[in-house]
Amino acid sequence: MRRPIIAGNWKMHNTTEEARDLVTLLRPLVGTARAEVVVCPPFTAIAATVNAASGSNISVGAQDLFWEDKGAYTGEVSGPMLRDLGCRYVIIGHSERRQYFGETDAIVNKKLLAAYRNELLPIVCVGETLAEREAGHTLEVVGRQVREGLKGLETGQARDLVVAYEPVWAIGTGKTATAADAQEVIAYIRKTLGEMYGETAAAIRIQYGGSVKPENIAELMAQPDIDGALVGGASLDAVSFAAIVNYD
Ligand code: G3P
Repeated sequence: MRRPIIAGNWKMHNTTEEARDLVTLLRPLVGTARAEVVVCPPFTAIAATVNAASGSNISVGAQDLFWEDKGAYTGEVSGPMLRDLGCRYVIIGHSERRQYFGETDAIVNKKLLAAYRNELLPIVCVGETLAEREAGHTLEVVGRQVREGLKGLETGQARDLVVAYEPVWAIGTGKTATAADAQEVIAYIRKTLGEMYGETAAAIRIQYGGSVKPENIAELMAQPDIDGALVGGASLDAVSFAAIVNYD
């Protein structure tokens, strides 16, 4: 009932030309994928990526947005601007935003509401640090991020939501959570969503992110609550990303 969704987060990589080349290579490799395919370039390469993906099954997402639609906010990019470029998705609350730019759950919430207001589909990231995991606080931290980040979101809207569980200690480190560990936390996220949105929680897609690669995707996707992946490093290579997208 939940269509898998595999998204590539390019982070601060790829010029317009590199973005175009990557999508051109990717298109034929993922053309028959069962999963929904999304790529998230940096702001500067969104237009080129949308153009290169036009007419394919690849959707484009942004990596962030600002919570106001316009105004005196030097350097920021708003929801209407992303819509204007042809974005369908937007990543919100990535741990790198939380870690380097001080994003809190309250900021994540404002950005989430801005995404919905502008008909962008949010991919909301949650996940614990290594210290939080070692202290046994994983479920508490992730539960709080979900509840606070989604405050004010109505049940009718929640159906379109994508949540990405990315344990911070597994991002870019080569350390993947075991499939069983990821399933445990993701099942807890779904339980929390159930307390908030009732049976709609069964329709909400939850991804795993953190050192996903062609070698570990099948085991992750075999878990009952894992509906996709948010892929960093491996999404920069067309062949690797296609192998992840075509995991089955
Ligand atoms: O958003 C994707 C992410 O943070 C994971 O990055 O490089 O570990 O796949 P990576």
